[in-house]
Amino acid sequence: MENINFESLRKLMISNRTVRRFKGDAPVSKEILEKLVELTRYCPSGRNAQPLKYYMVNSEEQRNEVFPLLKWAGYFTDWDGPEENERPGAYLIQCLDTYYGENCLCDDGLQLEAITLGMHTLGLAGCIIKAFNHVKLAEVLGIDPRFSPRYVLAIGYPAEEVVIEDMDCDDDADFKYFRTPDGRHHVPKRPINTLLLD
Ligand SMILES: Cc1cc2nc3c(=O)[nH]c(=O)nc-3n(C[C@H](O)[C@H](O)[C@H](O)COP(=O)(O)O)c2cc1C
Repeated sequence: MENINFESLRKLMISNRTVRRFKGDAPVSKEILEKLVELTRYCPSGRNAQPLKYYMVNSEEQRNEVFPLLKWAGYFTDWDGPEENERPGAYLIQCLDTYYGENCLCDDGLQLEAITLGMHTLGLAGCIIKAFNHVKLAEVLGIDPRFSPRYVLAIGYPAEEVVIEDMDCDDDADFKYFRTPDGRHHVPKRPINTLLLD
């Protein structure tokens, strides 16, 4: 395929990291959000049911309602998430359309990866968030009960550097991400020889 090869895909995967601090004064337009959601049309889907839908949040008012319902970086017990001037410029709320059933197999993760890769190509970054107040979120955004929120994807222009660290090979190796005094976020990844079982 034109301009796409394994090495460029690998580089994209390596640099597509979770970011939790953003340029807070840089909103993300609905046009961009729609473009990102459009990518999900091309994802695989169990039974090809395509039951996931997205709610776009980018107004200041709605962002302020969503932010307090999110739990950021569980390992950072002394950090309450991004400061006011570091918050995401938008959110996508991934919802299961229950009309098509009560589960979506692994469609959710596949779509989130597609969206975050797309974000990365546009100079954006973000954080997939599962730890949020599902009930309150549906309430503040007025989401119809037919649509069940599964994930919140925080999106913005990145304002932190993330570094991959090779994890040790032993079973007890520490997989917790950490931040160093220079502000860099470090994310340990298991070495390839520990991923292959034969
Ligand atoms: C299913 C899933 C749920 C996650 N939930 C949260 C969350 O609630 N809060 C958060 O700050 N990060 C969350 N994350 C982000 C992970 O912490 C992050 O992916 C992990 O630290 C690895 O970093 P990386 O994405 O740069 O590889 C979640 C990621 C996934 C895939």
